Amino acid sequence: MKNKIKIKKIISQARIKRRIRDLSEQISKDYAGRELILVGILKGSFVFLSDLMRDLKVDHQVDFISVASYGSATKASGIVRMLKDLSINIQDKEVLIVEDVIDSGLTLSYIVKNLLTRQPKSLNMVALLDKKKKRKALIPLKYVGFEIPDEFVVGYGLDFNERFRNLPFIAKLEGRR
Ligand code: IMP
Ligand code: MG
Repeated sequence: MKNKIKIKKIISQARIKRRIRDLSEQISKDYAGRELILVGILKGSFVFLSDLMRDLKVDHQVDFISVASYGSATKASGIVRMLKDLSINIQDKEVLIVEDVIDSGLTLSYIVKNLLTRQPKSLNMVALLDKKKKRKALIPLKYVGFEIPDEFVVGYGLDFNERFRNLPFIAKLEGRR
């Protein structure tokens, strides 16, 4: 059963690398001279974050937050539980949330609300992938790598039941919606 899942590459490693370099350049300009903290949402964002931060030309700190979103393997419910909180105090800091993919936006909107109570100086977000059509919640998404259709994707940190995070490209799962 396990090996029956088929995948199809939709964004190559080279395209991802180029896009991340562009994003890093833009972020480096926008945050020049400011105290930036990157907040990665575990686990999906760690690959994107590690590439993004190495292209950044501004000093920054990195921290992580981990949440569990109730729902099935492929659908978030919007009911969220904090598994790991930040270890850095973000009050009066410029916070940039780093996310792998935004689907309904429900998970992110919970995180945004939570982080805003800590009074950061600013709070923005960068997502590698955006499934805009599925959006149910308003979120401050400032930078986007790629807009993608409403398909379940894996690779480059994104998983399906914890598989495929290691793929160096983005692929869609075949034969399912
Ligand atoms: P949202 O709350 O509906 O925006 O869902 C966000 C979370 O669901 C993301 O942080 C991912 O962890 C997961 N997710 C949504 N779409 C995909 C996908 O296509 N592949 C892998 N994970 C996904
Ligand atoms: Mg995620």
